[in-house]
Amino acid sequence: MTTEKEQTLIELYWRNATDRVVGPDHGVSEEDLTSVSEAIQQALATVVGQCRRGELGYAALPTHGEYAERVSQLRAKLVGGTTDLVVLGIGGSALGNIALQTALNPATHNLLPAAQRNGPRLFVLDNVDPAWIDDVLCFLDATDPETGRARWQTALFNVISKSGETAETASQFMIFREKLREKLGARFAERVVVTTDAEEGTLRDIAEADGYETLAIPDGVGGRFSVLSPVGLFSAAMCGIDIRDLLKGAAAMQQRVEAQRWPDNPAAMLAAIKYLMYSEKGKGLHVMMPYSNRLSALADWYRQLWAESLGKGMTRDKKQKFVGPTPIKALGATDQHSQVQLYREGENDRLVVFLQVDRHPCAVSVPDVFGDVSGMTYLRGADLGQLLNAEKKATEYALAFSERPSVTIHFDEISPATVGEFIYLYEFTTSLMGELLDVDAYDQPAVELGKQATFALMGREHYEEFARSIRRLVEEDGAFRI
Ligand code: PA5
Repeated sequence: MTTEKEQTLIELYWRNATDRVVGPDHGVSEEDLTSVSEAIQQALATVVGQCRRGELGYAALPTHGEYAERVSQLRAKLVGGTTDLVVLGIGGSALGNIALQTALNPATHNLLPAAQRNGPRLFVLDNVDPAWIDDVLCFLDATDPETGRARWQTALFNVISKSGETAETASQFMIFREKLREKLGARFAERVVVTTDAEEGTLRDIAEADGYETLAIPDGVGGRFSVLSPVGLFSAAMCGIDIRDLLKGAAAMQQRVEAQRWPDNPAAMLAAIKYLMYSEKGKGLHVMMPYSNRLSALADWYRQLWAESLGKGMTRDKKQKFVGPTPIKALGATDQHSQVQLYREGENDRLVVFLQVDRHPCAVSVPDVFGDVSGMTYLRGADLGQLLNAEKKATEYALAFSERPSVTIHFDEISPATVGEFIYLYEFTTSLMGELLDVDAYDQPAVELGKQATFALMGREHYEEFARSIRRLVEEDGAFRI
């Protein structure tokens, strides 16, 4: 495929997924690509058409200046007095925030003194584990040695929920709101920013009643496609990430995937390979394996995007069909010592997508020591980035040697622009996969039942009958224990 280095900084390399490298049973051939060419071009035309007609909410985000503007204004107002930003959200209302922070700020961000941080410490609480919540409550109770004040005074809470009623987020919000009221009195509302539906919902009603600052989650943008909306932008901007560059990167990728034709289009090629691997080559497991700790949380974000968008029990015309490649996360080089044995010798049922960083953010070299220890001399003077990338190439080679296909997405560097490009590339590829698999990539009906059952089991009003039916099921056939 042709590359456009001047336009975008991430590139797809897919030779190791072809029959030339991993053989005809496990690799895609020219004939395989030809066989899906029409379907891919159709999918591309459909998705590009939907984007241009404004039917896909996420497609408007990279170039929608107003959200970034509003987020920047709010950041300017709040960042000065904030030492700790606590995000309360889950799923699509948290994974993008974690991914951006992990990719674009140092791993030690929260440990650094204020003068060396790019903004407040960030805690994204995407679970209701009482031990975790209690840890953060205790942390906020303590006096901050830098300010000499209890951290509650300078903490800010960003409550994110599109529906406004998600049990995990709602319960956390209730806990932190009460604490804030207790600690700050009437001023508590100044320390809460709510990100929710633009017009309606329980959380918006509460925000209006309590008088919080609010940010809007645009219409038609589902949780897992919302990282480039105020959902992901606010915590990123507060922590010093250049959200305009992030959006510029996404816009550059958008331009590329909307303009380039098959087979030069990277999203179309990625979708074609993933689709062929899934439907023709028995590769139901789609691993994402970044060789970079900074990119590791992008693989968590990808897992949700892939799983909720493509794991479906029905075609778009409502015929039963169970589909969906299973997304898996691994981390190089760490998981070479944990997963690669299975990836090479277990069932040949997976496609590995490596993320490789060509220029790592920092150079760290191994000192010139142990010159007389034969097993170590080769490491003297080596750069760790070079070692990490050599390990990636070695794993790629080892997989190919065992006829295990892989694809690599090269990041020229880790920057807001390349992360924005990657996010848009995967969102668009997910849309194409939805077309190819003939599923609705934007709903998540199977998540709902569990949410409703939680409401019932926790005694929510109007769920009494549902609770009874769950209990009956348990009592009658002892299916499970509550
Ligand atoms: O992608 C999705 O739609 C979900 O993961 C949601 O983001 C998640 O369930 C949280 O929902 P909400 O933002 O409504 O609280």
